[in-house]
Amino acid sequence: MGFPHKSHPRETPVLSKYFGDPEARSLEGWKARGGYKALQQALATDPVAVQNVIKESGLRGRGGAGFPTGLKWSFMKQGDGKPHYLCCNADESEPGTFKDREIMRWTPHGLIEGCAIGAYAIGAETAYIYIRGEFTEPIERMELALAEARAAGIIGANAMGSGKKIDIWVHRGAGAYICGEETALMNSIEGKRGNPRIKPPFPAVAGLFGMPTTINNVETLAAVPHILNNGAEWYKAMSLSSPKSNGSKLFSVCGNVAKPGNYEVVMGFSFKEFLYDLCGGPLPGRKFKAIIPGGSSVPVITIEEAEQVKMDYEGFLEFGTMLGSGGVIIFDDAQSMPKQLARLARFYAHESCAQCTQCREGTAWMTKILERIVAGHGTFEDLDTIFELSDSMTGKTICVLSDSCGAPVCSGITKFRHEFEALITGKRSSTVAVTA
Ligand SMILES: Cc1cc2nc3c(=O)[nH]c(=O)nc-3n(C[C@H](O)[C@H](O)[C@H](O)COP(=O)(O)O)c2cc1C
Repeated sequence: MGFPHKSHPRETPVLSKYFGDPEARSLEGWKARGGYKALQQALATDPVAVQNVIKESGLRGRGGAGFPTGLKWSFMKQGDGKPHYLCCNADESEPGTFKDREIMRWTPHGLIEGCAIGAYAIGAETAYIYIRGEFTEPIERMELALAEARAAGIIGANAMGSGKKIDIWVHRGAGAYICGEETALMNSIEGKRGNPRIKPPFPAVAGLFGMPTTINNVETLAAVPHILNNGAEWYKAMSLSSPKSNGSKLFSVCGNVAKPGNYEVVMGFSFKEFLYDLCGGPLPGRKFKAIIPGGSSVPVITIEEAEQVKMDYEGFLEFGTMLGSGGVIIFDDAQSMPKQLARLARFYAHESCAQCTQCREGTAWMTKILERIVAGHGTFEDLDTIFELSDSMTGKTICVLSDSCGAPVCSGITKFRHEFEALITGKRSSTVAVTA
């Protein structure tokens, strides 16, 4: 996504406004665009009042689960005498998702500002931005911007002359999907193996280094300065789905589509218009068939379902899937769903931390069975076994990695069973050309 961002007239660029504008990257450039005013204002306000503005705005976490951000911040007990920490989750390893890296590449100071406000609001003097190790350019951009912010006294021992200490550090991951899970991420920062921790205790009670910790996604924190600058009402009014899903959201679009890339639209936007107008529809001569709309971990929907969806948390749920991280993966009628889902299952099997038996064994067996079906050696019992496996992998492990393998696979089998049956009976599906 190294191209300047071309905004479609139906987009609402808030976070993506300066994508493609290299001058927005420097401290001077960010300040010239109104940067760091929100932080200055926040530092002169009571931390709980800052939390309340975010609560009132209805901002929900953009990392996948959609948890209300202001509420999460309010779980951090003020004045308990313990060090508090903020972790910014920039691991972004979810297949189909590539928005956070663009925020870091183009508006690193916007993220620093969001982190500093978040840290202040939860009573943290230290924040870590945990960035997936392969993101060399975003890491460089963040390090440069942090050095500028530190040298200018925006962060450090006396942030913006407020007398408050706010330090922000980049921590590089080593490219493990599981380290995007919040407690695995904390273990990784602590120098331990990136295994998720059993909850409770929740991070707000005992998180990083055993201390109260809040973890937020890059896009979540990057939205914070805009909300403080423009007000909670502005954020709500922008959405077509207020009060449940507010503001704008970045969607990463990939797969069989004319114009892949990142698009920012308001919550409640029509998915049909999004797919055909903004993203340019299918490739020449092809038709859309299926979509995984929220990063690879959410259930598959058919194009007929997708065309009825409103793009917000509830709108995707209504069709049995989720908004998730906003990574929209598109399959056209040239794709074999069994093959695509086998490939996805292999990803989860590879990325399982192997701590929980159901996940370690389940993801591996699901992959083997799917690959057997794709190779033309499957049976009808195999399909039943996959559902049984998924049942034992859902809601029974420390984190939801194994649930995330079963969700696209089982919904894919339910909705495209004829493609699996065609492979099992040795008949090619009439509607599907199996591509490499
Ligand atoms: C296996 C797994 C991987 C995850 N990867 C990410 C990730 O790369 N980025 C992210 O923000 N959240 C990821 N999450 C979700 C985080 O655990 C957490 O919910 C999120 O960072 C909270 O931020 P938010 O409230 O701002 O959404 C992942 C969760 C799981 C189970």
